[in-house]
Amino acid sequence: MSGRHFLQIPGPTNVPDRVLRAIAQPTIDHRGPSFAKLAREVLDGVRDVFKTRGTVVIYPSSGTGAWEASLVNTLSPGDAVLMFETGHFATLWRNVAQRLGLDVRFVQGDWRTGVDPEVVESMLREDRGRAIKAVAVVHNETSTGVASRVGDVRRAMDEAGHPALLLVDTISSLGSIDYRHDEWQIDVTIGCSQKGLMLPPGLGFNAISDKAIAASKSARLPRAYWDWTPMIADNASGFFPYTPATNLLYGLREAIAMLREEGLDRVFARHCRHGEATRRAVRGWGLELVCRNPDEYSSSLTAVMMPDGQDSDALRKVILDRFDLSLGTGLGKLKGKIFRIGHLGDFNDLMLAGTLSGIEMGLEVARVPFTRGGMLEALEYMAGSP
Ligand SMILES: Cc1ncc(COP(=O)(O)O)c(C=O)c1O
Repeated sequence: MSGRHFLQIPGPTNVPDRVLRAIAQPTIDHRGPSFAKLAREVLDGVRDVFKTRGTVVIYPSSGTGAWEASLVNTLSPGDAVLMFETGHFATLWRNVAQRLGLDVRFVQGDWRTGVDPEVVESMLREDRGRAIKAVAVVHNETSTGVASRVGDVRRAMDEAGHPALLLVDTISSLGSIDYRHDEWQIDVTIGCSQKGLMLPPGLGFNAISDKAIAASKSARLPRAYWDWTPMIADNASGFFPYTPATNLLYGLREAIAMLREEGLDRVFARHCRHGEATRRAVRGWGLELVCRNPDEYSSSLTAVMMPDGQDSDALRKVILDRFDLSLGTGLGKLKGKIFRIGHLGDFNDLMLAGTLSGIEMGLEVARVPFTRGGMLEALEYMAGSP
């Protein structure tokens, strides 16, 4: 295929040329002085993205590793954890917790709505014996395009006066949707590199509160690779307890610089605007959004229901084969029923226009019943709201 591939899955996202060039440098001695300077710079700089003045650790890992790290460092075998079935990723995180021997209280969900802060409050109020040691929430459920209101979850926990830790997965929201680790008193924020941070896969993050560090002193789940203690100790002098992903850290330094240049607030506003434009296109096509509540719309991706009897993977195949555009597949129980449009990371109006054009043409080619012209609604909106 000539021209550029359109990678519009909700992560990994398009890696900007600046970041690719930053990564394409000679790998250096990770125990030498140049590395220490790089490590200190990124460990300090990345805190702005989480909106924390506290500790952030960076693993050479995918997001799943960073999930595991958040649990093994803070909890003990048999501890109760409150989790919510917002979709496929919340379910996978639940599975990790169960395999580690935690007692997961999993609040069932319909995969179309986020975490209900009122349910959080009532479940914590009922937990008079304080058995629940952590509440674990996926901020942006990448399988459904539903963003939970984490600030409200925090308020609900405070209202209940419950001391549980708050663990939040920001894997597809960090650097795309407003998030405030310190202000919302999050204990562990889990992130990774391949989405809003505009990097290739390979870095996992934990932003850690003082309360979580204190909890880690008595937590008894087995941990070795993920142990915060040697990581934090070595990071203080700019080093790692094992070989870090050196070249990805060059990329991270560049990505942080790009986010600073644009300004986080403008980055978030850009994502909101592209989310709104996309939803207008979807409605214009006469298709239904997976996300039910307008105050939970994700601005990093949009998940779209197929009309009854239509297979989303068949549509995705047509769009990939004909227009070289990759869209996200339906995951878990949504397989074949929905497709997902990623509009996060290094992205602009014309990239969205191209993406929506590819989808509209694909709907036509695949003979999916729809109303033509939805993408024009998006163009009109973008033209009218700079
Ligand atoms: C919200 C969320 N959590 C966790 C994960 C798992 O991350 P990884 O595939 O990098 O292990 C993903 C992956 O897309 C995700 O979107």
